[in-house]
Amino acid sequence: MTKISIFHPTKIAFLISFLFVGFQANAQKKISLDEDWRFHFGNAADVSKDFDYGKTALLHKSNVFATTIVNPKFVDTTWKKINVPHDWVVELPFVKSDQVEMDSHGYKPVGGAYPETSIGWYRKHFSVDKKDDGKRFELQFDGIYRNAEIWFNGFYVGTNFSGYVGNSYDVSDYVNFEGDNVIVIRVDATQYEGWFYEGAGIYRHVWLNVTDKVFIPSDGVFVHSKIKGKNATVTIETEVENKNLRPSNAVVYSIITDRNGKQLGKTSEQKVALSVNEKTTIKQNVNLSNVMLWSLENPYLYKVISVVKQNNQIVHQTKTRFGIKTVTFDAKKGFFLNGKHLKIQGTNNHQDHAGIGSAIPDFMQYYRVKLLKEMGSNSYRASHNAPTPELLEACDSLGMLVVDEQRLLNSSPEYIDQFKRLIKRDRNHASVFLWSIGNEEQNIQGNEYGKRIAQTLLAIQSALDPTRTSTYAADMANEFKGVNEVIPIRGFNYREFAVADYHRDHPNQPLLGTEMGSTVTTRGIYEKDEIRAYVPDQDITHPWWASKAETWWKLAAENDYWLGGFVWTGFDYRGEPTPYKWPNISSHFGILDVCGFPKNIYYYYKSWWTNEDILHISPHWNWSEKIGQPVEVWVNTNADEVELFLNGKSLGKKTMPRNSHLKWQVNYEPGTLEAIAFKNGKRLTAKVETTTHPVKVNAVADKSTVLADGKDGTVVNISIVDDKGREVPNANNMIYFKLTGDAKIIGVGNGDPSSHEADKCTDGAWQRSAFNGKCQVIIQAGKTVGDLKLEVKSNGLRSAAVEINQKK
Ligand code: GAL
Repeated sequence: MTKISIFHPTKIAFLISFLFVGFQANAQKKISLDEDWRFHFGNAADVSKDFDYGKTALLHKSNVFATTIVNPKFVDTTWKKINVPHDWVVELPFVKSDQVEMDSHGYKPVGGAYPETSIGWYRKHFSVDKKDDGKRFELQFDGIYRNAEIWFNGFYVGTNFSGYVGNSYDVSDYVNFEGDNVIVIRVDATQYEGWFYEGAGIYRHVWLNVTDKVFIPSDGVFVHSKIKGKNATVTIETEVENKNLRPSNAVVYSIITDRNGKQLGKTSEQKVALSVNEKTTIKQNVNLSNVMLWSLENPYLYKVISVVKQNNQIVHQTKTRFGIKTVTFDAKKGFFLNGKHLKIQGTNNHQDHAGIGSAIPDFMQYYRVKLLKEMGSNSYRASHNAPTPELLEACDSLGMLVVDEQRLLNSSPEYIDQFKRLIKRDRNHASVFLWSIGNEEQNIQGNEYGKRIAQTLLAIQSALDPTRTSTYAADMANEFKGVNEVIPIRGFNYREFAVADYHRDHPNQPLLGTEMGSTVTTRGIYEKDEIRAYVPDQDITHPWWASKAETWWKLAAENDYWLGGFVWTGFDYRGEPTPYKWPNISSHFGILDVCGFPKNIYYYYKSWWTNEDILHISPHWNWSEKIGQPVEVWVNTNADEVELFLNGKSLGKKTMPRNSHLKWQVNYEPGTLEAIAFKNGKRLTAKVETTTHPVKVNAVADKSTVLADGKDGTVVNISIVDDKGREVPNANNMIYFKLTGDAKIIGVGNGDPSSHEADKCTDGAWQRSAFNGKCQVIIQAGKTVGDLKLEVKSNGLRSAAVEINQKK
């Protein structure tokens, strides 16, 4: 049994706010239950290998202990020790198979055809503080993939059908104050929810919330604001619930602080009388003057401290970050954030990353959003499911707009409940600017079913969040039927050619490219390779339904009625290999590969999505087998004109067409290919050089310090360089990693969509081959203060070492 520790990412700010309103210690706790779980595979086809699930009675009496797996005394000491977030699928081998859905899920043996690896059992032991007897205990699961049946101390507490929206359960009646408390979860991933890699297991955080019995329920605060000139009226809707067995009185109020915790305003203290089990909502306003708006450049976040008092004592308080912004969708003029025109420069993304699958530590959310933002992207579509809460926190903090999407266009009680949970969970996030009620429901999107379901969901959305509106991602051309008849923002998946006609015919419906572009590219590859399943790293190849980057972006950039659009996709993701299947195990759609390494198309988008000086030449200049033969050279830039030189000889000057790229046919000779460009009179230069052979490995950590909290961490990117420190573009050497200090490697990757090497190492000997010069290792902090050292070696090459300071 482990002693639980209190952790919250914003613990310090929270403590400050406790002091700030005179909060007494121990009144409430948000305790991380991420550590020290036990994991074991069950079996979907063989009851005897599934801990007799289905054979022993787990449901016919409350608290049936007997010898069942849900009995707290069941011995799980031989089970695998893990921490969550945990994705068991990323650790499974790749399996070549023609089973339906295998390719789209990344050739991992999970789903109905693989009963031995599709059921996961989790057990977690903890103790609670006796002093908390009489309090309300709630288990909060942010996301389990999927169909999680949950027991606590032998009592069945609920099933969460969704693999994406989390759920909370009141377990107050079952708490054992005298000893061991045990959570048991059976996760059933035999049924898929999507057609992309989804992972499986408890892949998001788990919390134990301890509060008084008069409390603000999870997601029970809704903050929204109306701006008038420089001032804003902030409305705070606070739910309060009474779980005492007697009527209870309370006082509810809220304080607004700036981002540093300084009080800016306070509501009146409102009295509420609650009968047993009553939940009520208090609506209060605070006026703020000279407000700081949340924007992409300055994502300013205020805080609401919501307080519940009884007998003059604070019994519960919560902290909610929020931003103040205005959003306008104009069918003719486009999108406006805070009154300023903004073209949506978005990317679609699934949630997995190299090395770690869908179990993404919080620091990785920041890493990924930061990479997208550096490219000039301003919007993220969480396709096609509820994102991890920390993804939204990263977007709030870094300044990235979000389209928050419901998994299925369905209005059954289950999916309505999921949609409600999604909206209530996410409606305070400053980054969320638009809901999406679904994606490409080909069977219903154009008919009456689709229309009726859309209307039902839209009514729910506007009741729960009247401050926002919705879109739907339709793979339909100029077709005004079904969902399109009722959706406030018409979404186009591909079919960019039809947007103008649709606008002509429906000039009052704002239009958004919900999935656009979708060039398939493999980083650092310049020839189609049907054996290894690679496609050239240029804006050339796309599936029949999609387009080149240039095709859609020109239309979006040059026509105000386009709100903008979301590229399919920002990052490569596991599954959906296109145009090839095996040996491909991941997609090629990304502007960045699965590690986040940029492909050439990154520089196309960055040229037109930022005002930075961009001048990028591709391909690399190592073509010893092509001496004297023509090589097609691409230049991506936002300069006005470019002159290209090979070994000092001019190959001609070209004017740069807006939203496009330049090309030269160059007869290859080794040496230096240099571009000299002028942008508003400013001279820019870039070059690629023929390198010699690999001599050394380089390793660069994203952060040189990490917090000793067992959760933080850093990405270390590895490149292979020649004697002059130039990256060798086709180096695929095997790299070995050794980490010393109290931290661990949690995954490795290289961005090769056909690599079948392990992302996780089971024997401590971490290794990964480079792919076209690069690979990546992800480190997670331990809890001891001290120095960490990552040694990076490769046979025959000089090694590298990175030092990381782990501090409190
Ligand atoms: C779209 C779909 C995406 C993805 C993409 C691949 O039609 O919405 O989820 O499958 O195609 O091109």
